[in-house]
Amino acid sequence: MLDHNGRVPTTDQTGREVGIRINPSILAADFVNMQAELARIATADFVHVDVMDNHFVPNLTFGPQMVERIQATSPVPLDVHLMISDPDRWAPGYAELGAASVTFHLEAATEPVALARRLRSIGARAGVAVKPATPVDGLFDLLDDFDQILVMTVEPGFGGQSFMPETMPKLRRLADEARRRGSSVWLQVDGGIGESTIAQAAEAGADTFVAGSAVFGAADPANAIAGLRAAARRHQA
Ligand code: DX5
Ligand code: ZN
Repeated sequence: MLDHNGRVPTTDQTGREVGIRINPSILAADFVNMQAELARIATADFVHVDVMDNHFVPNLTFGPQMVERIQATSPVPLDVHLMISDPDRWAPGYAELGAASVTFHLEAATEPVALARRLRSIGARAGVAVKPATPVDGLFDLLDDFDQILVMTVEPGFGGQSFMPETMPKLRRLADEARRRGSSVWLQVDGGIGESTIAQAAEAGADTFVAGSAVFGAADPANAIAGLRAAARRHQA
C-alpha cells in the first residue's frame, strides 16, 4: 500500500521497518525478572521464546505454564521456537495459549504439514526450523504450508554461540525459491546474530532476525534493536 505521499512506506505507524523483523530471544534475559526484561524490548516486533526439553537439545528452559505468563505480560507478540521432541503432540498447546507464531523443528516432526495446518487452524503462524546440517530442498514444495522458515545459524540449544556462515547458501536458495514462486513466507535466522553478522543474513535473504545476547547483553536494548534494524535494512537483498 502507498503512503499519503504516493510512496511505498518503509516504516509503519510505530516506526518499525516494513519487511524487517527483530525478535529478541529471552533465552538471554534474566529469567527471574522476566516482566522487567520484557518491558526493555517493547520496540521489538516479536519476543522470541526458546522452549527446550533436554531431549531434542541438551538444555532445558521452560514449558507452557511459563510461556502463558510471558504471553500475558509481553508488550509484543510471541514467536515461540520449540526445540523439543514430538512437536506433533505439544506444539498446538502453544498456539492455543495465544502465541502469534509457533515454530517446530523439521527434524523432530512426524507430520510437518499436518502440524502446520493444525497450528494455522488455531490462529498461529506456522513455522518450521532446520538445524545447520539439515537440507532445505524438501521445503521448496511446502512453502505455502508455512508462514515462516527458520534457518538455524548455530546448533540449537544455547545462546551466545558464533554465527555459522556456512548456512548462508541454504538460506539464499530458499530466498530464491520463495521469490520464484511468489511466496510471502518469512525467512528467519537465529543464532549469533549481531550488528556484525546481520548483514550476511540480510544479504542472503533473511527478513526476520532473532538476537539474544546482542539485545539483552546491551546496556540499552532499544538502541540495540534500532541498530540491528538499520543494519538489516542497509543490507537487505
Ligand atoms: C539457540 C536459540 C536462540 C538463542 C540465540 O538454540 O534458539 O534463540 O537464544 O542466542 P544468541 O543470539 O545469543 O546466539
Ligand atoms: Zn531460538
